[in-house]
Amino acid sequence: MTVGNALLQGTKLLEEAGIAAPRLTCEVLLLHAARGAERSWLYAHSGDELTEIAWLHFGRYLHERLQGAPTQYITGRQEFYSREFRVTRDVLIPRPETEHVVETAIAVGVRGQRVLDAGTGSGAIAVTLRLETGADVWASDISLKALAVARENAVRLGAAVNFVAGDLLAPFPNASFDLIVSNPPYIPLKDREGLQREVRDYEPHVALFGGRDGFETYARLLTDARRVLRPGGWIVVELGYSSLAGVRAMLGPAWHDIRVNEDLAGIARVISARLL
Ligand SMILES: C[S@@+](CC[C@H](N)C(=O)[O-])C[C@H]1O[C@@H](n2cnc3c(N)ncnc32)[C@H](O)[C@@H]1O
Repeated sequence: MTVGNALLQGTKLLEEAGIAAPRLTCEVLLLHAARGAERSWLYAHSGDELTEIAWLHFGRYLHERLQGAPTQYITGRQEFYSREFRVTRDVLIPRPETEHVVETAIAVGVRGQRVLDAGTGSGAIAVTLRLETGADVWASDISLKALAVARENAVRLGAAVNFVAGDLLAPFPNASFDLIVSNPPYIPLKDREGLQREVRDYEPHVALFGGRDGFETYARLLTDARRVLRPGGWIVVELGYSSLAGVRAMLGPAWHDIRVNEDLAGIARVISARLL
């Protein structure tokens, strides 16, 4: 089987199964199987025979994708803010829209500050903020397995981040942060059945669901943030598709300078506010 034929056949299988972006998915899986570096390799070597081991790996990856596994869990990689993060099934796959959380945090002024990323997952936000701004970054997660992945990403990317295990802000009894960032679990449990199988059956439920209505983690985070932030400190939080009204209503008189940023699809994606 040549590289070119493997691409054609794999793309056809993915297309027939209704997988999104079948050609691109096939290219990524074939490159991963052949341990190739660049997409151009596929075209420069289109007439080459695949090695037996590459062919076996490719078949397995195609099978996994056809079963519903996200491509990123098969390759173990996802790009975020132009850096490559390692991902396993223990962490949420970082989403492009979460880059708006990083941008908002930088815009409110992170440089030289003490920053906490609550619910760090793969460490995407924490590692990026550390590398982009040099801030003193702390990151927490309730999942020890997620923290292990985050630590690995921090080491691999050379980011000095302090990781702490625990429930939201509870591990910080005497803290005084300048900024809290968070992409908390916010999908309502009642929406579970309607989720894409790639999300529902593969991503960690602790990273997805924010209680029955999706607001449980927001409520606890925003209440406790007043204890952990210094006066005048900022909170920057990612919003779910329909979270804006509920989260805004939770921000009582203790908060001011409330701002909302939209993502590229025009959806309210990030809310930021400053503690009085
Ligand atoms: C939506 S994911 C976000 C992961 C990462 N920050 C990102 O944006 O890709 C939410 C994360 O919060 C963590 N989490 C959920 N409940 C938590 C809690 N009570 N305390 C601390 N972390 C929690 C999950 O383990 C998960 O890693």
